[in-house]
Amino acid sequence: MDKELPLLCYFQGKVMPLSEAKIGILTHAFSYGTGCFEGIRAYYNEEHGQLYMFRAREHFERLHDSARVLLMKLGPSPDDLVEMARDLLKESGIYTDAYIRPMVYKSDEVIGVRLHNLHDDFYITVQPFGNYIDIDRALNVGVSSWKRIDDNMIPARAKVTGAYVNSAFAKTEAQLNGFDEAIMLDANGHISEGSAENLFMLRGGVAHTPPVTDNILEGITRTTIITLLRDELRIPVVERPIDRTEVYVADELFLCGTGAQIAPVGTVDHRTIGKGGVGDVGRALQSLYFEVVRGNVAKYSRWCSPVHSEARRAAASQVAVAS
Ligand SMILES: Cc1ncc(COP(=O)(O)O)c(C=O)c1O
Repeated sequence: MDKELPLLCYFQGKVMPLSEAKIGILTHAFSYGTGCFEGIRAYYNEEHGQLYMFRAREHFERLHDSARVLLMKLGPSPDDLVEMARDLLKESGIYTDAYIRPMVYKSDEVIGVRLHNLHDDFYITVQPFGNYIDIDRALNVGVSSWKRIDDNMIPARAKVTGAYVNSAFAKTEAQLNGFDEAIMLDANGHISEGSAENLFMLRGGVAHTPPVTDNILEGITRTTIITLLRDELRIPVVERPIDRTEVYVADELFLCGTGAQIAPVGTVDHRTIGKGGVGDVGRALQSLYFEVVRGNVAKYSRWCSPVHSEARRAAASQVAVAS
């Protein structure tokens, strides 16, 4: 990243330094959780001298879907939003792994819980970003006593800000109890997802993941992994409800999401999964995933949107000369 450039954001209709973007304390979304957002990664490829946004269009499509659920209007199309994010990364001079956070929110400074008769605004921020959770070792996970929100309470398929209190309860309970992450069950006792990750279980050579009707966020990493498992690793994938104790006897388990990427699970509720540690499929999938997201696999380059107009080849030679 070029140190002299401030991080830029898009806020209240214009591009400005992130440090200047502020909301009033009475803002509806701040009081009532009436916003929806996305988390998008961009990966820097040293060899290409290029930063790639990963599946940005799909994330902005989901943002539109979330906004629709919350009765919000988001003017720019998904393609417009991809361009806006690209410009922010470019103009902030980011040449390292990064995170893009767009949010649409009820922006009126009023008291009163509702979704209608309110104004919507949106912002996009960008920032350098590394790993969200440790993915170099297998995680120790606990099933949460907090149930996953139901579609008729706060729909999990919409990425609603207020819904993340549910995730925060689960994550904090898990970590205060000595686990790395939580798995949440839905009201029927089926596995739903982690605090901010979807779940895959391997049993008998078949990968299983909860269906979109089991109160999950319809993860974009989840669809990426379904494709990579089926088309590259030749492992069949079944979307079906998963019971709590099925994961205890799984051969392999992993969590996935934009933030977590692919996080293998070593134990659930103190039961060792498979042989313990990172499993063979989890390891293979991790290395394939990182090749794909960094734009190294031509077949999937459609998922990777280059940010900079010119590759930054000069940087490597400058370092070489300096040292
Ligand atoms: C609750 C929840 N589930 C799943 C995911 C994974 O979704 P994605 O792969 O689209 O990032 C996330 C991350 O955004 C999440 O917050």
